[in-house]
Amino acid sequence: MRHMLNPLDFSVAEIDQLLDLASDIEHHLPKYAHACDGKILATLFYEPSTRTRLSFESAMLHLGGRVLGFSSADSSSAAKGESVADTIRTVSCYADIAAMRHPKEGSALVASMASRIPVINAGDGGHQHPTQTLTDLMTIHSLTGRLDNMTVGLCGDLKFGRTVHSLIEAMVRYPNVKFVLIAPDELKVPSYIREDVLRAHNVEFKEVGSLEAALPELDILYMTRVQKERFFNEEDYIRLKDSYILDKAKMKLAKENMFVLHPLPRVNEISTEVDSDPRAAYFKQVQYGMYVRMALIMTLLEVERPC
Ligand code: NCD
Repeated sequence: MRHMLNPLDFSVAEIDQLLDLASDIEHHLPKYAHACDGKILATLFYEPSTRTRLSFESAMLHLGGRVLGFSSADSSSAAKGESVADTIRTVSCYADIAAMRHPKEGSALVASMASRIPVINAGDGGHQHPTQTLTDLMTIHSLTGRLDNMTVGLCGDLKFGRTVHSLIEAMVRYPNVKFVLIAPDELKVPSYIREDVLRAHNVEFKEVGSLEAALPELDILYMTRVQKERFFNEEDYIRLKDSYILDKAKMKLAKENMFVLHPLPRVNEISTEVDSDPRAAYFKQVQYGMYVRMALIMTLLEVERPC
């Protein structure tokens, strides 16, 4: 039995296969309408979510399966003090696969160790968010035709942004990908990303403070929200929340064929005036998120590709 806890749980070849399946799903959606007939997905969300939970649910419904779950810790037995391990043992009796989001780093791993069904990490604290990464990879591949030979700028909260950590871990495996890490000093990537991921893979990267200065060289700009819920004090959040705001004027500094991604939700780090720019790809990204989750559910459940 396989889980998806970290993007590295899948090799580059397996990710290629998964993206290939997701692309087939995109182009032949009705063909997959019964791929998971009779299967049940549990969504165990201890933290707020719109896209991730609903896209998992929509993915399973589009595959002909059914869904159950909870969308906040308050409405589950976590409120009574139940452990994640006991919850997943219970859910293993009701469902065939589970997607879990939790505010604590490592909780999906803990769940997987007690689980009798595949566990998908739908975000564990400020740590990892592998299915957002699959979404990001599919988006970048669909828009540019490649996942190698590019300069990727990541901007905003690179400290607590789990989507950033997962994307970097996944992309260092492709040839000639360079990173420009754009963040205020207080929100730079954690040292394990700098040392154990970027430096360990001999990947070219720089850490800068200015979005304007970085923009002209980027092929992809990955904007992120300052993660209010992970700050220890409100004052720091207020001071840092508007560090970067991408607007029309800044977009003029970017390449004509650069794309802007954002895992969403956006607060105000991308002005709505950018939404109509053909380079704004964050709502396309949402659509791709459902296809990759369909592909992932099929893969973990070892469901054959329908002909
Ligand atoms: C992200 C997350 O939850 O980490 N959202 C998402 O899943 N699409 C990013 C965020 O919350 O800022």
